[in-house]
Amino acid sequence: MGKKIFSGVQPTGNLHLGNYIGAIKNFVDLQNETDNQCIFCVVDLHAITVKQDPNELKKNIRETTAAFLASGIKPEQSIIFNQSLVPAHAEGSWILACVARMGWLNRMTQFKEKAGKDKEKASVGLYIYPVLMAADILLYDATHVPVGEDQKQHLELSRDIAQKFNSDFNSLNFLKVPEPLIQKSFSRIMSLKDGRKKMSKSDPSDLSRINLKDGKDEIVNKIKKAKTDNDPMPASDDKLNERPEIENLLGIYSSLSNQNLKSTINDFSGKNFSDFKSKLAEIIVEKISPISDEIRRLEQDPKFIDDILKSGSKKAEKIAKLKVEELKKIVGF
Ligand code: TYM
Repeated sequence: MGKKIFSGVQPTGNLHLGNYIGAIKNFVDLQNETDNQCIFCVVDLHAITVKQDPNELKKNIRETTAAFLASGIKPEQSIIFNQSLVPAHAEGSWILACVARMGWLNRMTQFKEKAGKDKEKASVGLYIYPVLMAADILLYDATHVPVGEDQKQHLELSRDIAQKFNSDFNSLNFLKVPEPLIQKSFSRIMSLKDGRKKMSKSDPSDLSRINLKDGKDEIVNKIKKAKTDNDPMPASDDKLNERPEIENLLGIYSSLSNQNLKSTINDFSGKNFSDFKSKLAEIIVEKISPISDEIRRLEQDPKFIDDILKSGSKKAEKIAKLKVEELKKIVGF
């Protein structure tokens, strides 16, 4: 039997190379393995945990969908939909919120990072967002969830919630405990300006990331300006972790050229940085530009995108609604 895959991406704009390498690229590979059933969700309910401009949100839902399609996710093969069209997500997440413990949520590092110093001012939604994420996954009996490194803790929480629900309600295996699919390498792409910070949509410096919609010149310029150091290109991966910017750039190159880090190190050892950077820019342009051109093309036709989401959501609804009905019965409604 193949895997049941579920994953989601927030429509908050500025989709970047980290989202692509850490998540979307793997979605496509999983879709293309035989026998997998894949569901990819534009998680708009998650997006509103921080304030969004309604018109921008609508645009970003379409843009994220366009990025899925442009990267190679096929609506004939995989279910593509946006979360808010399937009410079961909100309904299921309420029931699961009554199973999850405050202590578990208090440990979530992403909440601490996103809420910043003034936790009192963060939305309640931001705090319980990992419960919504658990509902997303558990309503589809997903067996495997491909994500970047930063979502690992949220996935562990989903597993804990599933296990506690099953045990509290004596319903062994009713909620399937999902496996995270986090790649061993390249699952955490770092900022181009600081190799110790994650590449992120919310970094105020646009030079810190390659956006999926960047043009060729922007890509070349950003790689030219990417932080490096004064040492030569490494000859081995010894102590590479002491050079996080270099490790990151080598990782991006390796992932996009589908080779391991060691081969990339061999390819460039003894060369100078400017040679490496121009090859790196070249491969990013080669892989990202067709995607960005296709996103722009698809965005010209919002109705086409909306229709895909509508038809995907009908398929998703069928699955999720059934599961919520059962969930409610088990709880005693
Ligand atoms: P989001 O929208 O922040 O990110 C989408 C995906 O991109 C990955 N990612 C990265 N990977 C490597 N390096 C980076 N710098 C980087 N930045 C982001 C993320 O790990 C993620 O896989 N909560 C999720 C969305 C979500 C979800 C779900 C995921 C909601 N429900 C159910 C899986 C299953 C999020 O905010 O991802």
